Amino acid sequence: MAVVAVVGAQWGDEGKGQVIDVLAEKARIVARYQGGSNAGHTVVNQLGHFRLHLVPSGIFHPETICIIGNGVVVDPAVLLQEIEALQQHHIDTSRLYVSDRAHVVLPYHLVLDRLADEARGEQRIGTTGRGIGPAYEDKVARIGLRMGDLLDADLLREKLRFLVEYKNKILACLYNAPPFSFAELYDTYRRYGERLAPHITDTFAMIHAAIRRGDNILLEGAQATLLDLDFGTYPYVTASSPTVGGACTGLGIGPRLITRAIGVFKAYYTRVGSGPFPTELTDATGDLIRERGREYGTTTGRPRRCGWFDAVLARYAVQLNGLDGFALNALSVLDPLPVVKICTAYRYGDQVLDLPPASLSVLSQCVPIYEELPGWQEPIGHIRRYGDLPANARRFVERIAELINCRLDMLAVGLKREQVITLHPAFD
Ligand code: IMP
Repeated sequence: MAVVAVVGAQWGDEGKGQVIDVLAEKARIVARYQGGSNAGHTVVNQLGHFRLHLVPSGIFHPETICIIGNGVVVDPAVLLQEIEALQQHHIDTSRLYVSDRAHVVLPYHLVLDRLADEARGEQRIGTTGRGIGPAYEDKVARIGLRMGDLLDADLLREKLRFLVEYKNKILACLYNAPPFSFAELYDTYRRYGERLAPHITDTFAMIHAAIRRGDNILLEGAQATLLDLDFGTYPYVTASSPTVGGACTGLGIGPRLITRAIGVFKAYYTRVGSGPFPTELTDATGDLIRERGREYGTTTGRPRRCGWFDAVLARYAVQLNGLDGFALNALSVLDPLPVVKICTAYRYGDQVLDLPPASLSVLSQCVPIYEELPGWQEPIGHIRRYGDLPANARRFVERIAELINCRLDMLAVGLKREQVITLHPAFD
């Protein structure tokens, strides 16, 4: 039995979907534990071309059970669209379960997300606009609607009546925005509840039964470590805990049940939205990485900011998640470069920092100290064994492992399943 957590170790978009797709083959359960439809990955396989925001990518393996845990905030409209798209391609969705404790994203969350971010002016976070922050705000304020509430028409009516009145006041007073109709929302969400009823269940009990049976379980993190509400580059973060710790509260499992934690990195860093990015490249090398790596958002289509591998942030992610190993993706993006750089530490005034500071104003003044390594300047996408990589590519990868004090478990030289080289299998 293995319970393996896979987390994004940078600012997101590390290609977790590909790593999870490979690992899901051996997993009985794949479970999401935080975030919502702000996440997004494209899956292209023999069954079709899919854009998933909520459904775990384990759904493409016919024996795998997929769970959306209590820590996720679920937009039922998005979930139903995904279920329909999967069904149109004859993919069995009866193996998809949503926690009755997961909170619901409602249309006013989306509107408030956009209005609140606009109101921040220069300090805007650049959220995905999917209502994630406002939905978690309601959860913390203890007024949130949970998926289980959609199944009880009377309870839903009572809760929603209060919520719509309350949110309409906020919309009118703070933003002079039009109100939502209680009757329409109630009708829509009651019908969502009816349609989702076969999927809504107590996933806590399901996971613990699977653990007792000794099943292999994959815990799928969304977003990434540096977007963590506590330890990310606050306030330019998301509203959940995308770290391994988040898996415990987001599914209801104790930390000792997690047998392995794997962090996913790319061979360079990217970031969407605002916030400091010490190794950002605003030159032709940054453009080359963006084009070769197709660094444009799946959810929003925004171009991603690109920069060199930052071992200071990566070391932090290893410690914060207690990573046993890491997967390194998109190495082939760097193929043409004559020189590749790794940031080994930051210079801040007369200090040298090997971990990032909490203060964003300090972080934005940090100057990266780079180590330069020779590039390999040959295509590597066809390589299937680690030992066959050019010596300079191996040197780059091994230097990263050394600097961040973590073992390389998997390496991807392209986007296809067969382009993932596994050095240490996560499941037996
Ligand atoms: P929110 O999660 O929509 O509230 O957005 C907060 C911040 O997290 C913004 O900078 C987003 O661009 C970023 N973010 C949220 N989800 C993802 C993701 O899946 N990949 C990359 N960035 C994300």
